[in-house]
Formats: sequence, C-alpha cells, structure tokens
Amino acid sequence: MSDRQDLLGRHVLLGLTGGVACYKAAELTRELTRAGATVQVVMTEAALQFITPVTMQALSGRPVFTSQWDARPANSMAHIELSREADAIVVAPASADFIAQLAQGRAGELLALACLARPAERVPLFVAPAMNREMWAHPATQRNVAQVAADGAVVLGPASGAQACGETGDGRMLEAVELRDALVAHFQPKVLAGRRVLITAGPTFEAIDPVRGITNHSSGKMGFAVARAAAEAGAEVTLVAGPVHLPTPLGVRRLDVCSAQQMHDAVLPLAPTHDVFVATAAVADWRPSQFNEQKIKKDGKKVAPSFELAENPDILAAVARLPAQARPWCVGFAAESHDLVRHAREKLERKGVPLIVGNLGPATFGRDDNTLLLVDAAGERELPHGDKLSLARDLVREIASRITRFPT
Ligand SMILES: Cc1cc2nc3c(=O)[nH]c(=O)nc-3n(C[C@H](O)[C@H](O)[C@H](O)COP(=O)(O)O)c2cc1C
Repeated sequence: MSDRQDLLGRHVLLGLTGGVACYKAAELTRELTRAGATVQVVMTEAALQFITPVTMQALSGRPVFTSQWDARPANSMAHIELSREADAIVVAPASADFIAQLAQGRAGELLALACLARPAERVPLFVAPAMNREMWAHPATQRNVAQVAADGAVVLGPASGAQACGETGDGRMLEAVELRDALVAHFQPKVLAGRRVLITAGPTFEAIDPVRGITNHSSGKMGFAVARAAAEAGAEVTLVAGPVHLPTPLGVRRLDVCSAQQMHDAVLPLAPTHDVFVATAAVADWRPSQFNEQKIKKDGKKVAPSFELAENPDILAAVARLPAQARPWCVGFAAESHDLVRHAREKLERKGVPLIVGNLGPATFGRDDNTLLLVDAAGERELPHGDKLSLARDLVREIASRITRFPT
C-alpha cells in the first residue's frame, strides 16, 4: 500500500524544529511525496543543527526556507505565501520549545510565524511532539500541548519507547508512515462522523491441545482495512481481532482474542454501544469438543486420533438477534469457495442482517487485493477488483449511505 497516491494534489508545509527526531522528517518527506503530495520544508535555526537543508531540499525537490527575512517571495512575506499555498502544516518533530511558542502565539521565527499566520479554517495544523520523557511529562509542556489542541491544532502522538537520550518512556515522535496515514485520514470524507463502529477481523484459533489447533487462512487484512477506512471516515472504531500479526490502524481501539467463543464474549457486550457492526472475521464454525491439557503424543500408535467437534456460537446472528434498541446495523462477510451470489443471499436471509459482503476465500485470504459483492434486499452490486483499502473505503461509503437512509 506504500505506493498509493492518497495525497495527490495536496501541498504540505513540513516544519522541522530542534530535536534528534529530525532524521525521521527526512523519511516523512519521502513518504509524503511518494503518496503524491508536494512538500515545502521550513526549518527553525535549531533544526539546522540536526539535519541539513541540503538533505531536505534533495528529498522535497524544493529549496528549504529557514528565515522570515528570506527575500525570495516577491512580497518578501514568506510566512504569508507559504501558509496560504499549503493544504496542511505539519510540524514534525515539534520541540517542547516550539509547542510553548505556539501556545503563546509567539512568532519570532519563520515557522512559528507561518503557523500563526495560517488561515486556520482552511489550513489544519498537525503537531508531532518529540522530546525526552521528563520534558513531555512536565506540567508546563502538558499545559502548552493542551492549549495548542484547544486552539485547534491536531496533536499526533507522541509514542512511548526507547529515546535518543537512552531513557524509555513517552515522548517519541510517531513513525513517518503513521504521520503520513494521519494526514491521509484527515483528507478522507467524514461520512461516519459521530458513529461508533464495531468490527471483527482475522481467523479464530480453536485449540486441540497446547500446541495444535484448527484455524483458517484469513489474514485479517480486509477487516483491518475496514477498521482503518471507518476511522478515516470519522467513526470511533473498536476492532476485535483474532490471531494476526498486523499493526493497529491509527486511532482504532483493538481487542485481541483467540477462539470463536472469546470473540463472541468480547463482541456481545460491546454491540449495544455501537451503531454499526461489521463481521469480517472468518470465525471457525466448529471447535474440538474437548481440549487435551497435554500434547497428544504419537507414541508409536498407528491409529490417528479422532475428534468430536462442537458448534461454535454464531456471533453475527447473535448480534442481529439483539433487541432493536440494542442492535447495531449489521454487515456480514461471506467467504465462499463457489456459488458466491447464492451463498451470500442465503446468508443474508439466514442471519437476518441488512447487508452481506461476499468474497471468494481463495482470492482474498492473505492478499492485498480483492473483489467484493454487496448483497441486500434490493439486489447485488459488485465493488470491482482493487486493493483492500480502496474497497474498504467504498464499503464504508455504502454503509454510511444506507444507515442515513435507514437509521438504526
Ligand atoms: C542534542 C540535543 C537534542 C535535543 N533534542 C530535543 C528533542 O528531542 N526535543 C525537544 O523538545 N528539544 C530538544 N533539544 C532542545 C531544543 O533543540 C532547544 O530547545 C531548541 O531551542 C529548540 O528550538 P526550536 O523550537 O526553535 O526548534 C535538544 C537539544 C540538544 C542539544
């Protein structure tokens, strides 16, 4: 997904302030330009101590601005020109000192001046703090960050982890791809603003003994893409994930589970507080009726062990059966190997849900692309072959238009 052109036509003013994380701003510039954006870099005097404008110019393809007295703009007002041509200003890294300047509305350097002079209703300001954990935790910094957010800036991070100073804690700048994705999300239409969306994703794992189990080929990629797309669309998203190794999309609350029963037990209490439920998980229909506490050994026996299977709870049907006032608008996924339309329509009726999304298991499991078939009472509609994030965004738009027409 790294070559998606999600920022095509967007112009970003990228501000660097004095911190070791300036090296990550070089990578961020690459990520933004690869996503189609044009990038104008502005650096504070302190930032020049950490990375050279030569590197930033080479990566952005534009001369870097470092001074409010730069005479290149015809009107000699770089802060006005730069802040008016931008679709967004991103300060990454944002030092404690710079955040303090923003909080006080100070404008002693070009970058702070451009932030203050920006047309705030049209040019959003994103701030990615990066500093030592004690600096971050200091009441003065916390006060300044709260003020900057109250004044309309979007504060991204910081993350927790190992720091350049050798300490560990809160204050690490988010990674370049996370900042890129936050910007991409900002420009997506907010069709699910104010909605709460619950999503299941991935396979389940039904243990036979401590080392073996029954599972399937679901990678979780489709469900994670739906979670990301819903969050981008402004929803508050809860993702209940089976055993998968995928990063949590930005802004999504994630609960990890293993078996179908655990997924059921996580989902049912959450469902009544959500407006939409999207069941993308490939939940095992059956589990071994008995769990062997110890590994089943071969021990020279020639006869293979046999298992009784018990039926797992049907999560989607259970949510769809909740009383009307506690029931979210339900979307089921059907992964089939053949006769997609017939099976998807049968599932629509059997589960009693308003929308089923059919896809072919072998054509989707583990892949980055897919084709979706939407099946509802009105008929069928194909979302043609594409990458999973694009399909997820289309699906989110379809869901948004349906819940507007048929409120829960
Ligand atoms: C080696 C070194 C590393 C620094 N790293 C950070 C940092 O990660 N975050 C931060 O807020 N300040 C850091 N500072 C302090 C800032 O560079 C200093 O406050 C500077 O005045 C910030 O200026 P600016 O906000 O105009 O860019 C560091 C200073 C030094 C000497």
